[in-house]
Amino acid sequence: MNAVVSLERDGDVAVLIIDNPPINAGSVEVRRGLLETIEAFAADPTLKAAVVIGAGTTFVAGSDLREFGKPLEEPQLPAVILAIEDCRKPVVAALHGAALGGGFELALGCDARIALRGTVVGLPEVTLGIVPGAGGTQRLPRVVGVPAAIEMICSGTRVKAAAAQAQGLIDAVADGGYSDLRAAAVAHARGLQGVKHRLRDCPVPVADEAEIEAASRSALRKGRSRPAVRAAIDAVKASLRLPMDEALAGERAAFQTLRVSKDALALRHLFFAEREAPKQPGLENTSPRPVSQIAVLGAGTMGSGIAIAALDAGYEVLLLEQDASALIRGQDRINNHYAGRVRDGKMESAVADVCRGRLQASLDWALVAEADLVIEAVFEDLGVKQEVFRRLDRLARPGAVLATNTSYLDLDAIASVTARPQDVIGLHFFSPANVMRLLEIVRSAHIAPDVLATGLEVAKRLNKQVVVTANAFGFIGNRIYSAYRRQCEFMIEEGAYPEDVDAALEAWGFAMGPFAVADLSGLDIAWRMRQSQAASRDPDARFVRIPDRLCEAGRLGRKTGAGYYRYEADGKGRAPDPEVRAIIDEESAAKGIARRAMTSEEVQRRALLAMVNEAALLLGEGVAQRASDVDVVLANGFGFPRWEGGPVFWARERGATALAQDLDELARLSGPGFVRGDVRHLFQE
Ligand code: NAI
Repeated sequence: MNAVVSLERDGDVAVLIIDNPPINAGSVEVRRGLLETIEAFAADPTLKAAVVIGAGTTFVAGSDLREFGKPLEEPQLPAVILAIEDCRKPVVAALHGAALGGGFELALGCDARIALRGTVVGLPEVTLGIVPGAGGTQRLPRVVGVPAAIEMICSGTRVKAAAAQAQGLIDAVADGGYSDLRAAAVAHARGLQGVKHRLRDCPVPVADEAEIEAASRSALRKGRSRPAVRAAIDAVKASLRLPMDEALAGERAAFQTLRVSKDALALRHLFFAEREAPKQPGLENTSPRPVSQIAVLGAGTMGSGIAIAALDAGYEVLLLEQDASALIRGQDRINNHYAGRVRDGKMESAVADVCRGRLQASLDWALVAEADLVIEAVFEDLGVKQEVFRRLDRLARPGAVLATNTSYLDLDAIASVTARPQDVIGLHFFSPANVMRLLEIVRSAHIAPDVLATGLEVAKRLNKQVVVTANAFGFIGNRIYSAYRRQCEFMIEEGAYPEDVDAALEAWGFAMGPFAVADLSGLDIAWRMRQSQAASRDPDARFVRIPDRLCEAGRLGRKTGAGYYRYEADGKGRAPDPEVRAIIDEESAAKGIARRAMTSEEVQRRALLAMVNEAALLLGEGVAQRASDVDVVLANGFGFPRWEGGPVFWARERGATALAQDLDELARLSGPGFVRGDVRHLFQE
């Protein structure tokens, strides 16, 4: 008998148990085991029906992605599903945990589906640059219709059991635990009385052509028309016009082509990089400190966002301010957030009340003594932050973890004002903190291992994507982003205009070009920072004056109706501005630069190379631990197109030799002050 799939008898029902921990991934052994047990079941006249179930905490939560880069070994999943369909006796899928991708396709190939409440089902293949390859694009529309299937497959949405039952994807939802699920599925299998219910025998519900086109257009827009989205739409639509087997062959061919495509390689790279990033060597035997109450200091933009993230994750939250009206504004932001969630049907009002009920807001700092973790989000000023940490040192209980959300400041300089630097950690959230998935965890010089472990544990509960960084100006993300933005400033000084740079980078896939981003966040923050660093700046380094000129002209970005662009009264409708061009032309002339046209390709290459160069420096300095961590940061916090994998992935595709030449050229174009990184760091695992 196969080691990962076993057959147990429950009277006249066979229970096929998939046991491939941790997530019962659909590997070649699982497929082989399923095929063998299905054949054994089919051949045994004393068995009338079968149940397929996962051991442990989940059904088949997905396919084994490690197999996707090489030729797939036989049997492949379509053959397993065909064996279930061809078997003359009914087979019921019993689902718990997650049934995703190939796991859900397997379930759709069965004659019925029973799920434990809380189970999620879905076909997330498109988010990995591929399409469902084992009938998902054909069996799903037979249940939900073509428009809904296009929507679900192209977005990769995960659907909870109850909602899936309402759509007809699940036949029954079972309450209780694992044994209840198994018993319900066995009873259901018996109740089918030998009758098959194959989705392949169901017609695809007729749909309005206009509705199909609307669903396709919307999916293409949201999915940036990537190849997998286009292929998924075509495959689902084929269910209406082709015989099932022909449509299945088409789907499989698209899957086989896409799984070795560039998008799929890049997305798989990120998939593994994201799972690797939280792992910290040396912490295997370290327990985190228990955290149930979190104090957030400062109720501004970040403080209120962090508070919401913590409330959503079930923590008790204490929100502290120095300023009464700022505290009220912060509370209003939090209340409005929950009211909005309820209004949009995203959260039940009882759940929102529970979240809000865990919030306490106060001006009384003595209360901080209750907190297990303190996250400081006050003004970005070293003196202010040090003063806050001196107070925390007096007020917080011994053993409390003290965190700062600083974006740039020296964590060790903050920790050093306390008598407990080992308890200090950086938790760098991104704005809006309750929405953005990225969280940079900054290791202070004296950090205790269990403090780092606590940071990782809290981040997990907050559902954040973690990357651990050493203490350095701007950590990983902001430092790379600064290098990128500086390079873009060089390019506008040399001949491009902001709209050319933004258009080129948006065409390449960035969610927003750097100058549009700058206008959105406000040019004054960086202006203040440049002023504070003016004294220590290398006077010989190349320095672009254009951003300062804009600020001096009162152009602070969208909030003032003008920045790199001109905006309508509502801050929307960005338009190039002749005034900005005039300033730029003047600055180029003042430096004696003969402006020249730049192609989109040149803009894209230089901007990416600037990121790559900074990544090499960060790796060389040990600020970033793994090259792939850089990609996780850029893809999750800075709008880097996921299907390009991240700057390191992009760099590796170019190859070390070409890249070294590229960086020499970038150094030449950038001029004095540019520090060139060593490309070898980018190729280390
Ligand atoms: P903000 O100006 O919106 O809020 C700061 C709040 O802290 C204000 O309400 C202020 O009254 C309060 N505050 C100031 N000094 C205080 C003190 N001594 N004690 C108690 N409360 C005090 O600022 P924002 O944008 O929320 O930023 C806060 C921190 O988060 C900064 O360190 C910033 O660098 C960091 N950060 C900001 C991001 C952003 O996009 N805005 C992103 C990531 C980090």
